[in-house]
Amino acid sequence: MNATRSRKGSHIDICLKKGVEAKVKTAGFDDVDFFHNALPELDFAKLDTRTPFLGKRLKAPIVIEAMTGGYEKGGEINLALAEAAQEHGLAFGLGSQRAMLEDVALSSTYKVRNVAPDVPLIGNIGMTQLRKYGVQKIAWAVKSVDADALAIHLNPLQELVQPEGDRNFEGCLKLIKKVCDEVPVSIIVKETGAGISPEVAIKLAEAGVAAIDVAGAGGTSWSAVEMLRGNESSDGAFWDWGIPTAVSTTLVSRAVKIPVIASGGVRSGVDVAKGIALGASLGGAALPFLRAWGNGGKKAVSTLAGEWVNELKMAMALTGCRQVHELGSVRLIITGKTSETLCAFGCFPSNFVSREQR
Ligand SMILES: Cc1cc2nc3c(=O)[nH]c(=O)nc-3n(C[C@H](O)[C@H](O)[C@H](O)COP(=O)(O)O)c2cc1C
Repeated sequence: MNATRSRKGSHIDICLKKGVEAKVKTAGFDDVDFFHNALPELDFAKLDTRTPFLGKRLKAPIVIEAMTGGYEKGGEINLALAEAAQEHGLAFGLGSQRAMLEDVALSSTYKVRNVAPDVPLIGNIGMTQLRKYGVQKIAWAVKSVDADALAIHLNPLQELVQPEGDRNFEGCLKLIKKVCDEVPVSIIVKETGAGISPEVAIKLAEAGVAAIDVAGAGGTSWSAVEMLRGNESSDGAFWDWGIPTAVSTTLVSRAVKIPVIASGGVRSGVDVAKGIALGASLGGAALPFLRAWGNGGKKAVSTLAGEWVNELKMAMALTGCRQVHELGSVRLIITGKTSETLCAFGCFPSNFVSREQR
């Protein structure tokens, strides 16, 4: 079995069975509170969660984030996640397509179009693989799975904690720009659980990236996964490393005009609503959907997705929003460490309090 393929299998098994989330740090959503509207004057049945994304329309602004592919069980998981995304009108991200670039026979484990004809489907490749494979092969990988977009993942933490990781990050921005210029689909750049700073977001937007998925800290920790794999070169000192999702989402949304996805430690439809209230267009999650699959297969993934959509709608109703994008301007109370960090960046919680209350 090739190394990429066996690594993928052990990542999935560890994430299904072990405690891989941040220990001390939180994503910050517990510091963010909506201001309850006891008299919303709207009909729950008429709430509109539809959201434009990548030239298609989602029924709800949720992305099932990139996780797998490249081995048999990964293919099974991808089909289950994609089917649930189709059923609920969500977007879906394939895991890194590196394995199929190394061995074309593994392509079938990424092919989900048959079960997800309408889903905005996002291909995936790591920033350090851009140099190795070049634009043409990457364009082939996107086309062969019929993806609507390609996510390039930035994962310097994971590469550094893996003894076999790639440690040369020089020239990645230039390569991202080349992919934006030459691969004929929208390019999303995402982190993998350590967040994106406003400075990096500005560079990415200038390079031509169509959307940024912050994948902040507070959820799945890649330092944790590598340590539990018995493979981390350090002693877990980086378990909680990264910019918490609430902070990353707020600062990146202020810094760039392109759509932002709030992910990393998003654990409910209310967290999706909070991400949108902080400036994102969509919310996303990986681990909760993987765990749902582990507990009850496709049916459990679909049930979880349905629960999140309902929670999102409840948060809309209780803040007086008829359309999901209206969450972006409701009053928010931000306290604790998230408030302190945002203040340090000149982004004052009072701005969120002085928003219009519906
Ligand atoms: C089992 C597993 C595998 C992952 N594989 C990938 C991957 O191949 N490509 C990628 O961009 N992100 C990958 N991620 C990162 C997720 O897409 C996401 O950014 C991160 O887990 C944070 O979200 P969460 O806290 O909801 O899990 C993976 C996450 C998990 C849990």
